[in-house]
Amino acid sequence: MTEAPTLAELLDDAEKTLADAGAWAPRADAEALAAHALGRPAGALPGDTRLDATTAERVRDLVAGRARRVPLEYLTGRARLGGIELAVGPGVFVPRRHTEPLLAWGLAAIRQVANPVVVDLCSGSGAIALAVAHARPDARVHAVELSPEALVWARRNAAVRAEAGDTPIVLHEGDVTAPDLFAELDGGVDLLLANPPFVVENRVLPPEWQRHQPHPALFSGHDGLVVIRAVTSAAARLLRPGGGVAVEHDDEQAPAVMSLLGDLGVFENITDHTDHNDLPRYTTARKA
Ligand SMILES: C[S@@+](CC[C@H](N)C(=O)[O-])C[C@H]1O[C@@H](n2cnc3c(N)ncnc32)[C@H](O)[C@@H]1O
Repeated sequence: MTEAPTLAELLDDAEKTLADAGAWAPRADAEALAAHALGRPAGALPGDTRLDATTAERVRDLVAGRARRVPLEYLTGRARLGGIELAVGPGVFVPRRHTEPLLAWGLAAIRQVANPVVVDLCSGSGAIALAVAHARPDARVHAVELSPEALVWARRNAAVRAEAGDTPIVLHEGDVTAPDLFAELDGGVDLLLANPPFVVENRVLPPEWQRHQPHPALFSGHDGLVVIRAVTSAAARLLRPGGGVAVEHDDEQAPAVMSLLGDLGVFENITDHTDHNDLPRYTTARKA
């Protein structure tokens, strides 16, 4: 029987396997998967040590999954946004670091508003809605999601956050393109946030998205703007005067999203913002 490897040997092998498979952060992924297999938080690996055979096998299985370009977060079962952890897996979009600035803008926009009404359209795992509820216990947060598979994750995350003491959010199964979405909230919403699908239909994405994440979470018609158009119209109707909207988009869509908001004729301070890579990532506006 061959001796189980040391952690350092295993990590070196995993890094090479993942680099060959085209993963873009092979060492970091290898370390995250090893930490997960060892039941430790990411970034808290022990010093070099010989692993038992079962743990070594578990790491190799996880690395094999990542080499098939399964998203790292599907393998660990965890993602983060706004300082909270979210359970994720097949059937739901993995929240991205790119959304942090949109969330921060939204929280700043309601800093002076007591008991704000907040809407998160296209909520996926519930990430944005739950992060707002975590930061603002006095907020009434509504989240809308179309996919029943994604809603399973959102409900699970909402239950965990409520159990942890956050104010419960209100989750709705619904289509944000419905013209009467949230008619009962018309003119009464303080903040509307959305990270909708925005990829042009025929674009080919890296396998982490193309192969493994749900297509309705990514693609949105020939120009990528079908759902964004509905989101901006809903914002025009739902926001109170002075209310704020922030919509995430791809790095080429800023002019189109600014035009969509401008054409609705009710917004001012229409501004585009960049993400952590300094790429155009979300557009904000205030209802006049
Ligand atoms: C890019 S993902 C974002 C998820 C989440 N907001 C986040 O940032 O992690 C877009 C989400 O929109 C949902 N979606 C797509 N079309 C929709 C529609 N017409 N109505 C409601 N949700 C929709 C997808 O199922 C997916 O969960």
